[in-house]
Amino acid sequence: MKVVKTINEVKNIVNDWKKQGLSIGFIPTMGYLHEGHGSLIIKARENSKVVVSIFVNPMQFGPAEDLDKYPRDLEKDSKYCEELGVDLIFNPEPEEMYPEGFCTSVNMSVLSEELCGLSRPVHFTGVCTVVNKLLNIVNPDKAYFGEKDAQQLAIIRRMVKDLNMDVEIVGCPIIREEDGLAKSSRNTYLNSEERRAALVLSKSIFAGKKMVEEGCREVDVLLKKMKDIIEREPLARIDYLKVVDAMTMQQVNTIDRPVLVAMAVYLGNVRLIDNFSFIPE
Ligand code: PAF
Repeated sequence: MKVVKTINEVKNIVNDWKKQGLSIGFIPTMGYLHEGHGSLIIKARENSKVVVSIFVNPMQFGPAEDLDKYPRDLEKDSKYCEELGVDLIFNPEPEEMYPEGFCTSVNMSVLSEELCGLSRPVHFTGVCTVVNKLLNIVNPDKAYFGEKDAQQLAIIRRMVKDLNMDVEIVGCPIIREEDGLAKSSRNTYLNSEERRAALVLSKSIFAGKKMVEEGCREVDVLLKKMKDIIEREPLARIDYLKVVDAMTMQQVNTIDRPVLVAMAVYLGNVRLIDNFSFIPE
């Protein structure tokens, strides 16, 4: 496994692989890898070569967000990637991705204006721009994203379609801790009290999922039950809890089409997200 820092190195290696007719699977990450990322890497081994990027992208963090304290551990990440059979890690410095004079961005309307886009207004422009750049640099056949970031996944699918990008986007299921908490690099911010309290997210998700599976189609009724579970925990504060159309991310009142039920909840200063999708018959 190679770890490279420049765009040219990645392009040269990938060009060689392409000349040999090899297929390439790509997992863009911000590092501090956990089993959620691991599941994407394992899935990506359906290709001949697997590339992982590790880049904490400044452009997707708002001014008051956690860019500086975002957890980083390249050594541990490299070891984990090596064990999982990754062929190449791309770990650029911010100046390599955003050199002096950089002034282009990829902006998306509609899909990025709901859910996380409301509380994180610059976030999805940063995500779309960096993912676009990374896909241009790595030029993979398939790129793998977790369903935990369901809005991000929908936005990237839309961007690839709208901009006629030649890559297949593969979504992979949420990976959870044994007690239900969705795996996230941000879980490391939680103190022990917050870690215990964070279980209200998955409890609410599981209860909501059961309700719709048993036939509940009224969004008001569903959200009341899910909200009650979260609000019983004094350390938890809801940022949003919504049911949206799975394609457009616009709110719905009745579950009469494929939907995403998504939440962001603060435990102290730590903001966690979770969701489930549902397709009615
Ligand atoms: O999901 C993430 O970790 C990031 O948003 C991504 C896709 C790597 C872009 O920086």
